Amino acid sequence: MPLSSKYGIISDIHANYTALKVALDYLNMAGVDKVLCLGDLVGYGAEPFECIQAIKDKPNVYCIAGNHDRQVIGDKDPRMRKTATKVLEWTADNISPSNARYLKQLPQGLTVDDTFIMVHGSLVERDAYILTPQEIAKNLQCMINDFAGLKICFFGHTHIPMLIGTKAVITDLRETKSFQLDRNDIYLINPGSVGQPRDKCPLASFGIFDADHWTMTFIRKPYDIPKAQRAIIDNGLPEKFARRLSVGV
Ligand SMILES: [Fe+2]
Repeated sequence: MPLSSKYGIISDIHANYTALKVALDYLNMAGVDKVLCLGDLVGYGAEPFECIQAIKDKPNVYCIAGNHDRQVIGDKDPRMRKTATKVLEWTADNISPSNARYLKQLPQGLTVDDTFIMVHGSLVERDAYILTPQEIAKNLQCMINDFAGLKICFFGHTHIPMLIGTKAVITDLRETKSFQLDRNDIYLINPGSVGQPRDKCPLASFGIFDADHWTMTFIRKPYDIPKAQRAIIDNGLPEKFARRLSVGV
């Protein structure tokens, strides 16, 4: 499949439809051809079904499963925290059969247009967090050894936007910024979290990869945080998941 011009990159929506709508509207206005969604549509927030619905019927969206998506359909992770599990049980109790089927068929990883690979956690171990120099080195090596020819691994799970190349790691991405990438290098790129950012910046985080110019833009956008918080409280979900949205942790 030839490369498209522009790819929207989103991850870790976490049942925050208010934030997702801002991201999808922005990507639509920017004229992206395809959207790559790196998992965790559900969990923490109170609008999981609106999020699934917004993603599942779109022909140009490529989506993979995150650890929260898997937990809702019965693939339990014993390391999941109690309060997070409570929200996932509420999600599982209320999900429709067709939305559950959608989560079940999501792949764990996906190669796109012979150029990109999508994973939720890490290339090396499904639920590992790419944060430390050791994990970064392991994943870059894995790209070279096992995915030769692919240029970029898009990943999520940490909720921290990151641009990782073989020469530099950039993590301070609290405002919209573009980067010229080297076509001859390989990269690990995390667009940050749409619905629950954890880099001490409450703005929704996502990105656009421009394959014509080989640039990556990290985008930060405000959304109606009180609305997302009210939905959490009104549905009786743990208040701390509402509070953290204000501060981005
Ligand atoms: Fe997540």
